[in-house]
Amino acid sequence: MNQIKLSKMELRNFKGVKGFTLNIGGQIASIFGENGKGKTTLYDAFLWVLFGKDSANRADFSVKPQDPSGKDIHYLETDITIEFLINGQSKTLRKMLKEKWTRKRGTSTDEFSGHETSYWVDTVPVKAKEYADVINSIINETAFKLLTNPFYFCTQLTWQDRRKTLMEICGDVSDEDVIASDQSFSELTNILNGKSINDQRKIITEKIKMLNSQIEEIPVKINELSRTVLGEEINYSVVEAGLLEHKASLRKIEQSMTDTSQLASEYRRKQQEAFKLGNAIEERKKELDAETGAGSRLLTDEKAKLENEKYRLETITLLTKSKIKDKESVLAENEAKLVTLRETWTTENAKQFVDPDPNVFVCPTCGQDLPTDRIEHRIKEMRESFEHSKAQAMDKARSEGKAIGAKQKTLADEIESLKTNLMNDELKMTEIDERLTELNKEIEAGQKHFGSANYEADEKYQLLKSQYQTILDELNKPVEDTTSDPLQQKAKITEQIETLNKLLNTKEVAMKTKARIEELKEEERTLANQLSDFEKQKYLIEQFIKAKVNLLEGNINSRFKIVKWKLFDVQINGGISECCEAMVDGVTYPNVNHAGKVNAGLDIINVLAGHYGCTAPIWIDFRESVSRIIDTQSQVINLIKSEPDKTLRVEVSN
Ligand SMILES: Nc1ncnc2c1ncn2[C@@H]1O[C@H](COP(=O)(O)OP(=O)(O)O)[C@@H](O)[C@H]1O
Ligand SMILES: [Mg+2]
Repeated sequence: MNQIKLSKMELRNFKGVKGFTLNIGGQIASIFGENGKGKTTLYDAFLWVLFGKDSANRADFSVKPQDPSGKDIHYLETDITIEFLINGQSKTLRKMLKEKWTRKRGTSTDEFSGHETSYWVDTVPVKAKEYADVINSIINETAFKLLTNPFYFCTQLTWQDRRKTLMEICGDVSDEDVIASDQSFSELTNILNGKSINDQRKIITEKIKMLNSQIEEIPVKINELSRTVLGEEINYSVVEAGLLEHKASLRKIEQSMTDTSQLASEYRRKQQEAFKLGNAIEERKKELDAETGAGSRLLTDEKAKLENEKYRLETITLLTKSKIKDKESVLAENEAKLVTLRETWTTENAKQFVDPDPNVFVCPTCGQDLPTDRIEHRIKEMRESFEHSKAQAMDKARSEGKAIGAKQKTLADEIESLKTNLMNDELKMTEIDERLTELNKEIEAGQKHFGSANYEADEKYQLLKSQYQTILDELNKPVEDTTSDPLQQKAKITEQIETLNKLLNTKEVAMKTKARIEELKEEERTLANQLSDFEKQKYLIEQFIKAKVNLLEGNINSRFKIVKWKLFDVQINGGISECCEAMVDGVTYPNVNHAGKVNAGLDIINVLAGHYGCTAPIWIDFRESVSRIIDTQSQVINLIKSEPDKTLRVEVSN
């Protein structure tokens, strides 16, 4: 452990101190004096020599002495010399600040032109840079300040720097270390699944919140559903039985309605039978009539036959006549055509070629008369053409005449044959007419002779008639109207069945609802299980956090005698945030009294000194308010207010 101790400090013109020598030889010192006598000024001087700032962190030039009105007193040299004992070796540092005054040529007054600071190390003048390097080689500035000022760590560092320093000193504890520290945390590795404790805690908290709200909703849903089900508790077995009964009734009614319609068709059948019997009776009457007048029937039959034959012949005759007429007109037309053809032939035959006037032959292109040889040739052509067309016309007339002549022969034969047929048919018709006249006379005579038949004497007729009467009687029986009543009944029962069916439908709904309620209950159980899982996880994480806090804080706090460090802030929402706050007897540092703060500071300096491997003089201002300070290896310089001491008094002890 390196030891830096203050052996001696000489002040000249520093703040309110004109001159003072503190000679303590590296020992524990107590400096007494009433207020305003310059105790704090000594510490300021100490800091100023080392770091250029006083205990209030003010810069260089405020250290110059001022007059009572607060004005700088000029031409003074502010000069401090400090002698350290570093591991017993003397090291002297001197720093002097003085004003620079220059007189311009031709004037009699000096003018202030700035300050000048001079440095010495072990009485050797050095530059500012060298001077700083020497100090830094003894110990770095922050460490020096931390080790000399018991308040520095807790008031001048940010909490992050404090925490960092503590971690440097005591070592951090990783999440893995915490998990490994306790078997019950082994599950956490799975739960975290690579996420940080804080992130996973947030996720789980969110899930718990969600599950809780889901679970809360379920009883509401179940309540709503149960209301619809329980509101109308229905005995479905009664409904089902009723439905069966009504359906049976409906079947009966429908059966009876079918019966009724069968009655109607029976009635129609009887009507038809009556109609048939009526016809049969008439037939029978005719038969009886016919039996009675069988002779007259032969006559009438022959008459009918002859009338038919006559009708047939009349029709044929008409047809034959029309055919003859048609063919005769064709024959006449052809005859006329033959006359024309003959005339044509005669006319053509009489035609002679007449030589044309040779003068009329002109060239069709140039309009000049054609030469004679050409004319003769042309006339020859014309004659030939004439003869040719004449022969053609005559041939045409002849051949056409020949063809028509042939047709005329056939036609004449056909007409002849038709006429023969016509004559025969007309002869037949005359014969039929004669026979018909005879028959009519015979029939008329017969009718007068035969009387009408006696139907009532006929057995078959009697039977038919009695059957007919029976059916008529049945048909005439009054028919009771059985249809309207069952219709009404059917409608009524159908309606009842519908109502019951509707009720049964509600059974289905009710069953579904009950099933849904069960489902919801199941869901509730599942959610509750999930919730309990997450709550277990949350609990585990909380335990983990506590363990981590304990582990880390325990580790760190074990090194301190008075101070307990609060390194984690467990927030209201269960989160954990890092912090770094000193606590003394459960009181957070800012609220600790001066004595507590001093001892806490010493406690901290003791640990820090161990860490830096170095002690330095600790200045304890207002020491009079601290009755007892804790042990420290460092040299302590107590600044004690003491009314009786009108000038500074120094006591040293081992
Ligand atoms: N620059 C200065 N010039 C002159 N006097 C000063 C200057 N700064 C402080 N003082 C005075 O020096 C005196 C010493 O103060 P201080 O060291 O705080 O006394 P103590 O700590 O013993 O109570 C005070 O009365 C203060 O007014
Ligand atoms: Mg003071």
